[in-house]
Amino acid sequence: MVWISSPVSSISGDITPPGDKSCSHRAVLFAAMADGVSHITGLLEGDDVLRTAEACRQLGAKVERKGAGRWVVSGSGGFATPPETIDFGNSGTGSRLMMGAMAGYNLRVSLAGDQSLSGRPMDRVLNPLREMGVVTSDLGPEADKLPLVLCGSSQLKAIDYTPPVASAQVKSCILLAGLNAQGTTIVREPHTTRDHTERMLRGFGAEVGCTPGGDGQIVSIEGGQALKAGDFTVPADPSSAAFLIAAALLSPGSKLSIDGHMMNETRNGFLRMACQMADIDLADPREVSGEDIVTVRISGPDGLRAVNPPHDIVPAMIDEFPIFAVLAAFADGETRVTGAKELRVKESDRIKATVKMLRVNGVEVEELEDGFVVQGCAGKVPGGGIVEACHDHRIAMSALIMGTVSQKPVAVDDVSMINTSYPEFFAHLAQLGADIREG
Ligand code: S3P
Repeated sequence: MVWISSPVSSISGDITPPGDKSCSHRAVLFAAMADGVSHITGLLEGDDVLRTAEACRQLGAKVERKGAGRWVVSGSGGFATPPETIDFGNSGTGSRLMMGAMAGYNLRVSLAGDQSLSGRPMDRVLNPLREMGVVTSDLGPEADKLPLVLCGSSQLKAIDYTPPVASAQVKSCILLAGLNAQGTTIVREPHTTRDHTERMLRGFGAEVGCTPGGDGQIVSIEGGQALKAGDFTVPADPSSAAFLIAAALLSPGSKLSIDGHMMNETRNGFLRMACQMADIDLADPREVSGEDIVTVRISGPDGLRAVNPPHDIVPAMIDEFPIFAVLAAFADGETRVTGAKELRVKESDRIKATVKMLRVNGVEVEELEDGFVVQGCAGKVPGGGIVEACHDHRIAMSALIMGTVSQKPVAVDDVSMINTSYPEFFAHLAQLGADIREG
């Protein structure tokens, strides 16, 4: 059984995308680490975040759902050895951030994940954590991959660390461990990555230093700071909004309004690129829980200009390259994406999966070690292919968006992973007029 997205005449409507995945993980986790009761609204209730909520419960916090997106978390200011293995499912963010959060307590935890997560590199967080005093042992066949056992320590040493890759997960993991370490922990980011951890830790009462350094920034945290419970409203997810924006940009008669798009410079790279490809109106600027947001309005654009993302924007749109590639396929001219090697170690090898997605639908595309080159079809993508989702929610959603405007329908072999980040995807697309069904 596959899922088939067929061409429709236009995409129209007003949508508020679900809560941001990065902020949702952090809101639950930081509230669980704090002492006291925190109230969270707008939480994303996708599988990845529910796993983080369950992990926090296993470590001793009380985590309760009070209504749609409304959660109350009671933390006791620390974590204890859980009775059972923590299973992070598909979630790289949940697993890597929680390893840092658990690191500063005297506990022993078995950690596991699904097939995709078990293939993803964990040495990027385990190396700095071991320098700080964490002990790990492998439970599976491959070193520094899940499943593994992590033993934390209340005697962690602060480190001064330059991550070898631009990764907010690595930065966040080290800062969370640093919160309970002795001394000042410093992370030197060669390229600035999403800064939700820094912003939200401040919201939970911690002091986090941040100064520019080279092309990136230097972030520091003093050990021994206790987080204070608080209230947090999760802004809408720009990574989910990207699918809706793309659908409207591709459909000539569209009229779309997206409420609550984050303007955080470390997250809005896709929107910035999309604004160079077509006319997009950004209206009604305001703020929610420390994040600037706007309403995005798109009205029947006619054609897309091809643009090449500069290297410094890559971290700010790292999750949006599959859907950006779909826009590139419909654009007028060649699009060259480089400097994006990190895509090789996402939920799938996203360079390979993206290239295959376009190729089976008749688009000329070249695979590079650190990106891809797409020859735009100026609005006329043949379609007709069956896309392998490769256990990757963002590949599945990108392919289904492509089908709304390609000449022939586009099929996807598996859509189950969409639930990890965007449980309302099918309902929202139906509301906008898309024709997606099982076949
Ligand atoms: C995330 C950081 C990014 C991103 C992921 C969410 C986060 O990963 O791809 O979806 O919430 O910190 P990396 O830090 O590995 O680039």
